[in-house]
Amino acid sequence: MLYVKELYKSYEAGKNRYEVLKGIDFHVAQGEFVAVMGPSGSGKTTLLNCISCYIPFDKGNIRLGGMELAGMNEEELARVRNTKIGFVFQDFMLLDGLTIRENVLVPRIVQEEVPAEAEKLADQLASMFGIGHILNKYPAEISGGEKQRAAVARSLINNPLIILADEPTGNLDSKSSRAVIETFINAKQKMHATIFMVTHDSFAASFCDRVILLKDGTIYRQLEKAQERGAFQDQLLDEIKKMGQED
Ligand SMILES: Nc1ncnc2c1ncn2[C@@H]1O[C@H](COP(=O)(O)OP(=O)(O)O)[C@@H](O)[C@H]1O
Ligand SMILES: [Mg+2]
Repeated sequence: MLYVKELYKSYEAGKNRYEVLKGIDFHVAQGEFVAVMGPSGSGKTTLLNCISCYIPFDKGNIRLGGMELAGMNEEELARVRNTKIGFVFQDFMLLDGLTIRENVLVPRIVQEEVPAEAEKLADQLASMFGIGHILNKYPAEISGGEKQRAAVARSLINNPLIILADEPTGNLDSKSSRAVIETFINAKQKMHATIFMVTHDSFAASFCDRVILLKDGTIYRQLEKAQERGAFQDQLLDEIKKMGQED
């Protein structure tokens, strides 16, 4: 589904060049729920932005659903971004003037007239995620957890190849976080969705099939969940501690 090969990305600041991603290699399979963790500044958001077609990378390959992003022009990248990728952000990014139903349908509204089948999918997603009763409300009238569940529904409305989430539980309390993670698990189980999530939250990450630990722009370790959630979270906390001690 997603193949990242020998990915390099640097930023220029005046005369200096900062290597941020230094040869990243990994693969995410269809239907997998994968988390990326790592200290602040390790390159997580940069990695996500490269896959999102938001920023060009220096070297390497990103293949998404058989398409190679490396050689694409702006227009082709925009098309991939708008039709093949679902996004979930830390601060929800709902439009205040639209109802929750309209927000969920935004990725379809910008493309074409909304077909009945999209309206139906919006209702199905909303009821699956426990937000069916608030579809006619506005963002200001619902909780943060409900907003993020609506954002997850929006990310799925185009049947994307992959959902990219940057700190989706970063602004939520633990109960709401859990409800948002449940939406991802639901999407994975019922729709075979593929989810790639950056997170600081070991609790959220412990629900994933695999966790990639990023350190200084390289992959420090990849951990498969081979045990129950609580034990996996302990293992993650352990590895993150070790990673910090190696400095
Ligand atoms: N647009 C940019 N221009 C210059 N430097 C950047 C830019 N974006 C990020 N950086 C730098 O790249 C490094 C990695 O940032 P980022 O990918 O945001 O890390 P993370 O999400 O893991 O905290 C940081 O040192 C950051 O300051
Ligand atoms: Mg970040």
